Amino acid sequence: MQIEEHIPLGPLTTFKIGGPARFFARVKTTEELQEALAFAKEKNVKLFILGGGSNILVDDAGFDGLVIKVEITGVEEQGNVCIAGAGESWDALVLRAVEKKLWGIENLSGIPGTVGGAVVQNIGAYGQVLSQTLEWVDVYDTVVGQEKRLSKEECKSGYRDSLFKHEPGRYVVLRAAVELSTTERADVSYKDLAARFAGSTPTLQEVREAVLAIRAAKFPDILVEGTAGSFFKNPIVPLAEAKALQATYPELPLFPLPESADVKVPLGWFLDYRHGVLDMRSVRIGGARMYEKQFLVIAAERGTSSADVKTLVALVQKKIRDTLNIDIEPEVMMI
Ligand code: EPU
Repeated sequence: MQIEEHIPLGPLTTFKIGGPARFFARVKTTEELQEALAFAKEKNVKLFILGGGSNILVDDAGFDGLVIKVEITGVEEQGNVCIAGAGESWDALVLRAVEKKLWGIENLSGIPGTVGGAVVQNIGAYGQVLSQTLEWVDVYDTVVGQEKRLSKEECKSGYRDSLFKHEPGRYVVLRAAVELSTTERADVSYKDLAARFAGSTPTLQEVREAVLAIRAAKFPDILVEGTAGSFFKNPIVPLAEAKALQATYPELPLFPLPESADVKVPLGWFLDYRHGVLDMRSVRIGGARMYEKQFLVIAAERGTSSADVKTLVALVQKKIRDTLNIDIEPEVMMI
C-alpha cells in the first residue's frame, strides 16, 4: 500500500468539485487498511473514508488529512444471501442479483457509488430501502482495532441514516450481505413505477429497466455535469404538522413512514415552480443550480466551485425556512 500526497479529490467524486487530499491511500484488504490507519495515527491527521464519491461535496480547499479509498472487492452468493466487498459497485451488485433472479434490491438500480457507501447512507429509492434486505455488515472498528460483524439491528439504519453516521470515522465498512428472495415479489407501488406497470406484474428485468429509465429522465448525466443526487433530505415532521402544510397546500403529497407517526414531506414539491410556491429556475450561483427535472437535486457545470454550491445550499435553506418555517438538512456529506 502506497501513501500518495496532494491527490485531487474532485475527479474521484460525481460532483467533480473540490481540492486535494493531503494524503491519499487505496486499500484493498483489511491489512492495508490497518497500515493506512497506523499512518494517520502516526502523523496525527484526520481521516476520511471514501467510496464511490457519489454522495459527497469536497471543499475547494481539499482535505487536510488522509483519505482512504476503500477498494475491497469480491462478490459471492450463499444461497439467497449476496455478499459483496465495500468497494464493489452497488449497481453491479444489483445487476448481478437481477441476473440471478433474486428479488429485493431491483428498485435500487442505477444508484451510483459503492456497496460501502450504500450501507452508510442506507440508500432508498422507489419504495425500497437497503435496510429491508441488509443482513449483516463486516466492519473494521478503528477504536478497538479489530474486525467485527454487525447485525442488521446493530447497524441502526434509518432514513438516510445509520450507526456509521452516528459515530463518524469509527467503523470502516469492509463487506456487506443482503438477503434476497427467489419468490417473485415486484414492489411497484411507488407512484412513478405504478404508472408504468398499471395492471401488469413485471419481471425483475422489467423493474430494473423501468427504474433506470425513470432515473435517466430525472437526474443529470454525471458524464456531462456534476451532481450528488438529492442534495437535501426530505424533512420528517409529525403528522399534525404535515396536515397543517397540506391545509395550506392542498395538492402537496405526503409520504407516511412505516412504523412511525411521522411523515416525510417531499421538499422537491415546494422547489418545483409548477406548484406555485418557489421558483428556482432562474437561480444560478456560479455554475450551480437546482436541477430543472428534479428540484431536490443540485447540478453543477464543470468548473463550479464548492463555495458556489454552498451559497446555493444556504439560499435554498433560507427560502424554505422563510416559507415553511422548516430547517432542512443536506443529505450530501460535505468534507
Ligand atoms: N416533486 C415535484 N417536483 C420535483 C421533485 C419532487 O413535484 O422536482 C414531488 C412530486 O410530487 C413527487 C414527490 O415530490 O411525487 C417525490 O419526488 P420523487 O419521487 O422524485 O422523490 P424525492 O422525495 O424527491 C427521494 C430520494 C431519492 C430517490 C427518490 C425516489 C431523498 C433525499 N431522495 O427523492 O434519492 O431516488 O425519492 O425514491 O430521500 C438521493 O438520495 O440522492 C436520491 C436521489
